[in-house]
Amino acid sequence: MLSSDVRHFSYGRHALAEALKIIGVGSGDKVLLPEFICRDLLSSVNSLGALPVYYGVNKKLALDFEADKLPAAKAIIAVNYFGFPQDFKPFQDYCRRTGAILIEDNAHGLFSRDEDGCLLGTRGDIGIFSLRKTIFMPDGAALILNNTKNVDKLMPQLEFNSAAAPLSFKIKKFFKNIAPFVGVLPLNVMTSIVRFARKIKSGKEIASSSPDAEFNFPGPPNPCRDMFFYFSSVDVENEVQRRRELYTKVDGLLRGSILQPVFEALQQNVVPYGYPFYAAESEIRSIRVLLRKYGFECFRWPELPDAIKPYAPEYYKTVWFANFLW
Ligand SMILES: Cc1ncc(COP(=O)(O)O)c(C=O)c1O
Repeated sequence: MLSSDVRHFSYGRHALAEALKIIGVGSGDKVLLPEFICRDLLSSVNSLGALPVYYGVNKKLALDFEADKLPAAKAIIAVNYFGFPQDFKPFQDYCRRTGAILIEDNAHGLFSRDEDGCLLGTRGDIGIFSLRKTIFMPDGAALILNNTKNVDKLMPQLEFNSAAAPLSFKIKKFFKNIAPFVGVLPLNVMTSIVRFARKIKSGKEIASSSPDAEFNFPGPPNPCRDMFFYFSSVDVENEVQRRRELYTKVDGLLRGSILQPVFEALQQNVVPYGYPFYAAESEIRSIRVLLRKYGFECFRWPELPDAIKPYAPEYYKTVWFANFLW
């Protein structure tokens, strides 16, 4: 992924902030984004002094609002949740009516395509990718301009970060490399130890995002020096097939039990980030045990924005996904 209209960053949040800057979003400008979103992403909007304005999504994670009633904003963000293509029609209608810029948040959907075969991330005016979520790498994200509208505002590529990968990444890499020979047991044991230690320290097995994550970025925007090494070592065809097979496997394990998948079917062109499903707190323990037996971890997603938490519908709080990164 390197062309004159692509820029690389460490995190998708930096890529989104840059996208907003390119289209001239500044203090007091409105940016429309879904309520069902990871609170960390707000840092891209808040860092510019812009105002997040929210639209709801339904249980299929599609826009749950008449597009012609959405308020005017400088930009609207459409999210391809878990690598499944968002229905773009209402977003395009909205942009035609208001002149807003359409940003396709494809943080989860590298290699995925819609039903017309169009690569996700290339359908809006600007696409955002969080490469590190799909490819095992210390960090990595991208912004892609899909038309010539703002090409003159694209800044030069930032310098790549020359620091070595953090120790936590090296440890994970070690376990990933030995997994094909020794299975996932050592990894599960290590994960349990880390989680147990974290629970003792902070009261939570899975670290939640920091209180100021809606305002602050996780680190500098420069991508890691080895990003292209990790990127080019991926056999795309294999990776697409691997992800689709894992989806089918988890579907087979969980379907028919208490589980309700978020998406009814895995359409032909979709390359899933994970297997998203709805589960109540009381159900997740047994699901977790079952998934772990087959080497899958599952996580709740997302940690909702502070402004949304108090009135979020129940289904926003019961989405989990089995992760396919490893
Ligand atoms: C839908 C979505 N978009 C963007 C991002 C931001 O990506 P990154 O974590 O690389 O900043 C996330 C991260 O959680 C996300 O879930």
